[in-house]
Amino acid sequence: MVTGPFDLTGRVALVVGAAAGGLGERAARTLAGAGATVAVADLDGRADALAATAKDCGASAHAVDVTGEASVAALFDDVLAAHGRLDVVVNAAGVMLRKPYDETSLEEFERVVRVNLTGTWLVGREAGKALTRQGEGGRIVNLTTVYAERVGPIPESAYYSSKAGVVNVTRALAGELGPHGITVNCLAPGVFYPTQMTAALGEQPDRLRWFGERTMLGRLGDPEADLAGPLLLLASPASSYMTGQVVYVDGGWSAW
Ligand SMILES: NC(=O)c1ccc[n+]([C@@H]2O[C@H](COP(=O)([O-])OP(=O)(O)OC[C@H]3O[C@@H](n4cnc5c(N)ncnc54)[C@H](O)[C@@H]3O)[C@@H](O)[C@H]2O)c1
Repeated sequence: MVTGPFDLTGRVALVVGAAAGGLGERAARTLAGAGATVAVADLDGRADALAATAKDCGASAHAVDVTGEASVAALFDDVLAAHGRLDVVVNAAGVMLRKPYDETSLEEFERVVRVNLTGTWLVGREAGKALTRQGEGGRIVNLTTVYAERVGPIPESAYYSSKAGVVNVTRALAGELGPHGITVNCLAPGVFYPTQMTAALGEQPDRLRWFGERTMLGRLGDPEADLAGPLLLLASPASSYMTGQVVYVDGGWSAW
């Protein structure tokens, strides 16, 4: 039971990239647990995993490809038609490419940028338009990474580049939407394991252990427990005077 400034009763929250197994699924559960009516979205090809999240949260489920302008616009139309209003948009859709720079093709680089950066902008644009039309303020939360303003030891140039862009898309939209009472912030998680994206790290136990030990808290992020509080802060009235911010949820990784 969530009360006071964290209470989302009467609000409608959309989580994009919410198929079961990822941080979006956990975000959807957190928002539903705080009282929000939830809508979840993911790629058509992940319909079964999305249905699992929707069932868990009593949410409506919607297919979307964040790289498609028409697809993203249709998503917002569908959510508004289903629920009549919108208050919170969380964009957890993302892809990673673990490859040295000289083995990464232009197509691969552009694909990662298209999903992570262009997708964040497109979802943000449509969210901004819908929330502005409604005229009651709102919350937009993007997912970047602890590697947005620095890079990590694994070769992932496309991922790092795209996620750095997410930070300034967040700030830029925060500036434009601020006069409408709409806040735009991003969460910068450290390594949360396991999710669909990080599951492959399980094949490198030494590296996985290193990621945990490298933090001030000496452990990896727990997808079930460690993101819920910061996410709820940014999605609720509790963060009414926070916008354009990057909130690191990384066990202190970035503070060393
Ligand atoms: N898990 C971590 O350690 C970690 C750390 C830092 C940042 N992040 C970020 O958090 C977000 C969620 O990551 P995750 O670990 O839950 O990964 P995940 O792969 O489990 O979730 C990402 C989701 O995005 C969806 N998606 C991919 N392309 C899409 C598209 N074109 N349109 C719509 N949906 C699409 C996927 O189907 C998937 O459900 C990502 O943006 C990721 O970069 C994760």
